[in-house]
Amino acid sequence: MRVVVTGAAGFMGSHLVDHLLHAGHEVIGIDAFTPSASRECKEANLAGALGHPRFGLIDADLCVAGLAEAFGGAEVVVHMAGQAGVRESWGDHFAAYAGNNLLATQRVLEAAVAAGVRRVVYASSSAVYGCPPPGPCGEETPPRPVSPFGVSVLAGEGLLDAYAQHGLSTTAIRYSSVYGPRQRRGMAVERFIASALTGTPVPLFGSGGQCRDLIFVGDAVEATAAVIASELEGAVNVGSGEAFTINEVLEIIADVVGSAPVLERRPAVAGDPPRERLAIDRLRAATGFVPGTDLHAGIVAQVGVVRGAVMTALASG
Ligand SMILES: NC(=O)c1ccc[n+]([C@@H]2O[C@H](COP(=O)([O-])OP(=O)(O)OC[C@H]3O[C@@H](n4cnc5c(N)ncnc54)[C@H](O)[C@@H]3O)[C@@H](O)[C@H]2O)c1
Repeated sequence: MRVVVTGAAGFMGSHLVDHLLHAGHEVIGIDAFTPSASRECKEANLAGALGHPRFGLIDADLCVAGLAEAFGGAEVVVHMAGQAGVRESWGDHFAAYAGNNLLATQRVLEAAVAAGVRRVVYASSSAVYGCPPPGPCGEETPPRPVSPFGVSVLAGEGLLDAYAQHGLSTTAIRYSSVYGPRQRRGMAVERFIASALTGTPVPLFGSGGQCRDLIFVGDAVEATAAVIASELEGAVNVGSGEAFTINEVLEIIADVVGSAPVLERRPAVAGDPPRERLAIDRLRAATGFVPGTDLHAGIVAQVGVVRGAVMTALASG
């Protein structure tokens, strides 16, 4: 089938593009190459897809571009484009969140209805839950985001519900913390690994006792493909279902790299929840998919890629 992937050059979008091409689909990728990572990094993310006979890339901003041609003939749109990051969503930078998470989503949905797209799958986040009670957090938990980022993605979910009235099948995937190769340099696991490899200091916000449900990007993408193929509608959690403290993650990284990240301790930041752990029963029941990559194996894979990038950077001076 023909699938449109927005945010195709990003961390998760590019892995999804590779997965869909491998599965035999025709894929149209759209990306505005925002500064969430360098253009060079994003083009490298698409190295396997560019030149593939079933892949086309459109360099366009969803907030302004006409989307009729890109969406024409598509059965599914997977809307992975967005402005990620909790800490950065405070202050003046919120304009980018309002544009890339809210306006862009409304324009994607409007264009999907106009083009007769059957299904839209949207990248939402566990940030919609805010600070839920301890224990695995199910989709029935009332959303109560505690960051401007969380508010912006929850508003995107509201738009999905509104446009479902036009006959669109819509699903919002609430991802936990996704890690693995191609992770943006600003994200925690990538920064900790780079610090352990190079000795460059890295900030640690809070005590390190905060818990995160970390899911390997390969598992997150397989879960996404399973959701696309399912009839699942509404919100669905995609996470590992397990939680590790950041201190445990740091220990694994030190063990794999052979030296520990160099930490600069900073106070906890508003909007960063003390715990994240998703219940994944709905995903399992609807698709049969259960994430299988354990954290140690996932970090080994990511360290291999970051080590390669560090060596290349050192070699080129
Ligand atoms: N990575 C995670 O751990 C995680 C967890 C939960 C939710 N999410 C959400 O999943 C989505 C993808 O995350 P990611 O980590 O791959 O981020 P990313 O920044 O690596 O990728 C997002 C891509 O979207 C593109 N984009 C942004 N605004 C656009 C616009 N207006 N028009 C066209 N393209 C635009 C960017 O250029 C970027 O390449 C985001 O919406 C994010 O909030 C990510």
